[in-house]
Amino acid sequence: MDADAKKQQAALAALKFVEDGMSLGVGTGSTVNFFIDALADRAADLSAVVSSSEASTERLAKTGIRVSRLATEGDLDLYVDGADEATEFLHLIKGGGGALTREKIVAGASRLFVCIIDDSKLVGTLGQFPLPIEVIPMARSYVARQLIKAGGRPVWREGFITDNGNEILDVHNLEIPNPVEVENRLNQIPGIVTVGIFAQRPADVLLVSSDDGVREMR
Ligand code: A5P
Repeated sequence: MDADAKKQQAALAALKFVEDGMSLGVGTGSTVNFFIDALADRAADLSAVVSSSEASTERLAKTGIRVSRLATEGDLDLYVDGADEATEFLHLIKGGGGALTREKIVAGASRLFVCIIDDSKLVGTLGQFPLPIEVIPMARSYVARQLIKAGGRPVWREGFITDNGNEILDVHNLEIPNPVEVENRLNQIPGIVTVGIFAQRPADVLLVSSDDGVREMR
């Protein structure tokens, strides 16, 4: 099974969590795109669909799904999103697509977070994937210096501007044995908008797609 087939298999497995009348948050990325495409038939049964990025909003609209604003919705019943890395404790690294801040907001506002990945993303310890961090543009070099002191090697994602008008530093060489602690600590650096560690609010369900099918972890 190739990578796309695994992503699609994970996305289709998430459909069983979608119930009539639900409000649904939709993540961002190539795995979620398969979920969006499969959602077209179910959208009319949902009370609201909220998007985590301009890219997903555009794809949802093309699929004929009306997108509501989180600001006018209460908490959401379900959030479905991908990840760049995940552990058996359902801690995640996200933000490879740069949508981490809105993703973290929508995840926080959702009662159930179902994360869909292929098995290449399941790791023992987070940090092989460079950690995306969204920063206020004027703080970029200051934040980068603090990240070097913390043992990382930040690389500016040059030319990339987030949906919120900010910039991204991808931090290499960071070992993240204790994701909750590292997320909390990095969040204290002035100028950081969001750290791509999702540990304070981890996934509730992790669907891991492989050649053998989809494994559900909780
Ligand atoms: C977007 O900013 C990310 O958090 C994505 O959820 C993550 O990068 C997974 O994307 P893919 O499904 O494309 O691997």
